[in-house]
Amino acid sequence: MAKTFYITTPIYYVNDVPHIGHAYTTIAADVLARYHRMRGHDVFFLTGLDEHGQKVQQAAAKAGISPQEHCDRFTPQFQHLWKMLDISNDGFIRTTDAKHQAVVQRFLQKLFDQQLIYRAEYTGWYCTFDERFWTEKDVEGGLCPDCQRPVEQLSESNYFFRMGQYQQRLLDHINANQNFIRPESRRNEVLGFLQKPLEDLSISRPKSRLSWGIELPFDQDYVTYVWFDALVNYVSGLEYLPAKPAVDRFWPATVHLVGKDILTTHAVYWSTMLMALEIPLPHTIFAHGWWTVNGEKMSKSRGNVVDPYAMVDTFGTDAFRYFLLREVPFGQDGDFSHESFIGRINSDLANGIGNLLSRTVTLIQRSCGGKIPISVSTETSDLDTELQATAEALIQEKLPLHLGSDRLEFNRMLESIWSLVQQANQYIDQTTPWVLAKDGEKKNRLNTVLYHAAETLRFLCVAVYPIMPGTAEEMSRQLGLHIDFSTPILAKSMAWGDLTPGIEVVKGKSLFPRIDPAAISKQGVTVSTESTPASSPKEATGEASPQSPSSPGNSSASPEVENQISIEDFQKIQLKVAKVLTAERVPKSNKLLKLQVDLGTEQRQIVAGIGKTYAPEDLVGKTIVVVANLKPAKLMGVESQGMVLAAGGKDVLGLVTLLEGEIDPGTQVR
Ligand code: ME8
Ligand code: MG
Repeated sequence: MAKTFYITTPIYYVNDVPHIGHAYTTIAADVLARYHRMRGHDVFFLTGLDEHGQKVQQAAAKAGISPQEHCDRFTPQFQHLWKMLDISNDGFIRTTDAKHQAVVQRFLQKLFDQQLIYRAEYTGWYCTFDERFWTEKDVEGGLCPDCQRPVEQLSESNYFFRMGQYQQRLLDHINANQNFIRPESRRNEVLGFLQKPLEDLSISRPKSRLSWGIELPFDQDYVTYVWFDALVNYVSGLEYLPAKPAVDRFWPATVHLVGKDILTTHAVYWSTMLMALEIPLPHTIFAHGWWTVNGEKMSKSRGNVVDPYAMVDTFGTDAFRYFLLREVPFGQDGDFSHESFIGRINSDLANGIGNLLSRTVTLIQRSCGGKIPISVSTETSDLDTELQATAEALIQEKLPLHLGSDRLEFNRMLESIWSLVQQANQYIDQTTPWVLAKDGEKKNRLNTVLYHAAETLRFLCVAVYPIMPGTAEEMSRQLGLHIDFSTPILAKSMAWGDLTPGIEVVKGKSLFPRIDPAAISKQGVTVSTESTPASSPKEATGEASPQSPSSPGNSSASPEVENQISIEDFQKIQLKVAKVLTAERVPKSNKLLKLQVDLGTEQRQIVAGIGKTYAPEDLVGKTIVVVANLKPAKLMGVESQGMVLAAGGKDVLGLVTLLEGEIDPGTQVR
């Protein structure tokens, strides 16, 4: 029986579009899933969405739609992003799935029947944002200790889970299992938290206050607390997502990957819930650190949320995956900046691995007839054996060490891979194959050197595959290898010398073209309303954002109005009511939609960057507002004769629409 590996990510709230934080955890989980599949392990990788609770209900109310509709609208944005990021999850769970809800209700009933859930009157300080009560000693100055928002005093009857009674068992479990909570600093935090008495947990919300949730099976006036619902996904997902129920096969989970923000809910709530349900605890809960942007917390109001879609559009999937895991040790906080991202691409990727592949393939083409040459054992030197030793140690020792669930040292794994890249580049510099090629008597040495360089690249493509799957495929193609990465290549160890001479190499595109920092503006960081279509950062890729109306006066961040314009300036803009006749996606763009609109006296074609928020079929028949006198422009080769008005910055939140049939197309808007 193959060893099993069950890895999960948090299930993300659908109150907002995904950002790099969500991408980070999911990419890390993907790297581990891919690595363990290569090892021949039986892997299940689960991610998904947390769709109930106050945050989602509020977001839906704000958008004026039902919570379910809101969830259905946001789900594809996550799913599509995971596709773009090459995420290889085996299951995708939504907590609105009827089968998930049934499991949650079954668990609630079981605990209720065993009197592990009881009803009591409770008065406390409630934080709506965090959806939880705080005690008197927690709140300072009337503010939530977690999010610093005002709390209100609430008194209500609720159901409580007897969490407190598991305190000692949980402490014992943590103490007995060194790897249960990782890294060590987080483990100590939880141990510290458990020094205080552990209270019982309110697991219900009266429907009068919050209706969007799973009903308690024993009291229809209540829904369950969103965390009781969400945490259960890790077990319920195994019941109904695989072709046949797989709880026995995969539980207990090997690793729950989480951000440090939700460590307590996992280490304490989930663990005690499992104890009460008599289900074994997961092997490891690993809490990683927090990303900031240019030293600041990411937030919508600051307008500095890094959009993973834009990162991929501009820099590519693999560069993004590499950067996130290379830049900061997993577990520690990190800061995102374009400067460091571009620096990494140019030094590690373009000059490092990209250069190694391209020079090796070129040298083989120039001096070995384009075929992998034969290594001659009498011609090997110390340099060759050192290269071989590093490559073998990388695959056989370094990868399993750094990717062990107790460590998850992605950055050190990458450092190890890149020290082989560097050694191989130096090897070529020192052995000077271009000089050897000039001397007929050195032919055997030349062949031996280039064989070693190519064999190193074969080891490298296997090593980088979990992090950069697309790059590994391309390296393998250029080396003429066509490795099938879906097979368990690392089930047995790789043998140096297995590279078959005679295979034809194929010169291909450079893996990572160098990026000129000056040519790139701050893509992916929402520039809120300060960006005009003309200076839009997307222009470089031909994907201007015609949907973001630039009204310099409405910068919400600052109370004083900058860049004021006169009424004459405003009157230069012709805004008109238009009706959408047809809509379709612009090929190869995940964002652009091509609309034909009725402007009353004429029909116009408008290309709008709203394809992540709207499906084309949602738009037909809508009455919208367009800028009618904008100079035509081409977006990804398609002419746009105007611009639609939409709310939001880089991420479109909604089109400005008018009630259907009320106002005729062509009517002026002012
Ligand atoms: O908490 N840096 O969902 P959520 C690093 N639904 N990681 C970040 C991040 C940042 N700046 N921002 C978000 C929830 N993350 C619950 C989870 S699980 C049963 C229920 C990542 O949408 C990180 O993994 O707020 C964090 O734990 C998670 O997103 C929170 O996502
Ligand atoms: Mg959160």
